[in-house]
Amino acid sequence: MRYLSLAFVLLGFLYACSQIPEADGHEIYKTYCVSCHGAKGNMGGNGAFDLSASALGLEERVRVIHTGRNTMTSFKALLSPEQIRAVAEYTLELKQNQ
Ligand code: HEC
Repeated sequence: MRYLSLAFVLLGFLYACSQIPEADGHEIYKTYCVSCHGAKGNMGGNGAFDLSASALGLEERVRVIHTGRNTMTSFKALLSPEQIRAVAEYTLELKQNQ
């Protein structure tokens, strides 16, 4: 009996964990980035760099999104570090899809 209740506690814990939403890079991109970069990353609105052609690595992208650069504003007040990383990873996918 003791093991059974322990198993239920564990199950409940696992269930609770699965309910925490992961930062969804694509959703974040659609909300905050499409207006300048476009759905495919190559719109170039407001002089935005073409993300589908960008040679920047993941860490550099994280830095640009976190601190901003020239006309691109910083997103550190709007997005958590996890969300910034998730959206940076998503911009790398834009490159692969070309
Ligand atoms: C207000 C328009 C605007 C928005 C919104 C915007 N950007 Fe930018 N982005 C720019 C501009 C302009 C540049 C070029 C900056 C420069 O001239 O140094 C840029 C550059 C970048 C770069 C660097 C590319 C390179 O090759 O150097 C990355 C990565 C990037 N943006 C990602 C994002 C992400 C991710 C979002 C959404 C969270 C976003 N941007 C939202 C305008 C924008």
